Amino acid sequence: MAPRPLALLLALLSASLSAEVRDLKAFFQQRCASCHGPDGSGRGPGGALGGSNLLDSRRLAGQEAADLAGIILQGRGAMPGFRRQLSQEEALKLAKDILRRAGKGRAAQAG
Ligand code: HEC
Repeated sequence: MAPRPLALLLALLSASLSAEVRDLKAFFQQRCASCHGPDGSGRGPGGALGGSNLLDSRRLAGQEAADLAGIILQGRGAMPGFRRQLSQEEALKLAKDILRRAGKGRAAQAG
C-alpha cells in the first residue's frame, strides 16, 4: 500500500507540536494572572477573583515546590486544578518559579 502523504504530514506535525516546550510565562498570564495578578502578587485586574499573593514569602514559607505543584494540579479552595492543561513537570516548573520569585531560592533548587 502506498504511504499517504497527508496522514504522514499530520502525524509529524502533531508530534512536533507536543514536543514543543510550552511558554509557561505566557501560560501564567493567560490562566493564572486572572486571579493571582500579572505579577503574581494577587493585585491588579485579577485581584477581585481572590487569588493569593504568590510573592508573599511568609505565606509560602515551609512549602516545597512539590507541594505547590500539587496545589496547581489539584486546585485548592477557590482555585481550580490544572491537571488537564499542565503536565506534572510543567506544574513543578511553575512552582519553582513561584518560590524563586518569592525569595525562597534554596527551596526552589532543592525541589
Ligand atoms: C480562580 C482563581 C485562581 C486561578 C485561575 C488560579 N489560582 Fe492559584 N490560588 C487561588 C486561591 C484563591 C488560592 C488560595 C487557595 C487556598 O488556600 O484556599 C490559590 C493558591 C495558589 C497556590 C498556593 C500558594 C498559596 O498562596 O496558598 C499556588 C502555588 C497557586 N495558587 C498557583 C497558581 C497557578 C500557577 C495558577 C495558574 C496555572 C493559578 N494559581 C490559578 C486562586 C486561583
